[in-house]
Amino acid sequence: MRLLMLGDVVGRSGRDAITAKLPALIDSARIDFVIINGENSAGGFGITEDITTALVDAGADAITTGNHAFDQREALVFAARQERFLRPANFPPGTPGRGAGMFTARNGARVLVVNVMGRVFMDALDDPFAAIERELAAAPLGEAADAVIIDFHAEATSEKQAFAHFVDGRASLVVGTHTHVPTSDYRILPGGTAYQSDVGMCGDFEGVLGMEKDEPVRRFLTKLPSGRFTPALGPATLCGLAVEIDDNTGLAAAVAPLRLGGVLSETVPPFWG
Ligand SMILES: [Fe+2]
Ligand SMILES: [Fe+2]
Repeated sequence: MRLLMLGDVVGRSGRDAITAKLPALIDSARIDFVIINGENSAGGFGITEDITTALVDAGADAITTGNHAFDQREALVFAARQERFLRPANFPPGTPGRGAGMFTARNGARVLVVNVMGRVFMDALDDPFAAIERELAAAPLGEAADAVIIDFHAEATSEKQAFAHFVDGRASLVVGTHTHVPTSDYRILPGGTAYQSDVGMCGDFEGVLGMEKDEPVRRFLTKLPSGRFTPALGPATLCGLAVEIDDNTGLAAAVAPLRLGGVLSETVPPFWG
């Protein structure tokens, strides 16, 4: 099975790059399953129901989020009816929506997607390690799920790596999101789980984390907010991670980054041919 994870979509620039490039990519690379982190897709803060639908129409099989999941208040309502929308599984009980979902890939495989959030340098949340234990117990890889994908939305690379080792061999992929900058440590862990500390973003890299750079620079200089954060509107780089999953074991057989457009150097997974 061939899978593509795309990092945090930031604003119109990121959305436009996805609608322009993703459908053709799915066809040409014969991608069976696509996950997109959409937590910054609505003006940099949260996601609307219209954007959720647009990302699904462009090819997203699951949409993960993070600390910005509910920045757009309408998400509190549509989280219940948009079954491809996920928010972190370790939000407190009673939070609207779901932290995990079982989806059918284009090749018929059953794919469990879990969204979890870290706690180091982040808002206090329930234990992400306990949360993933519960989700994996409910649908173990190789039994109830043919593939298990975990978006670990976190700040600290130490927490991301520790989490990945904790589930190594029990998931097809653990991929970090939230920091918006792709790391070069993508690899397959000893137990067979593909891993990357951060997949990067789908946004304009000439800004600061996808936002127009003037206001962030000002805030570091003066500490006085003098304006709003708005998404940078230059051409986005699509940042993603491609994984070949062994159909027999559900573990990773190959992993490589994808970067298309914008100002970062382009790279296409060699096994996409
Ligand atoms: Fe983000
Ligand atoms: Fe985030």
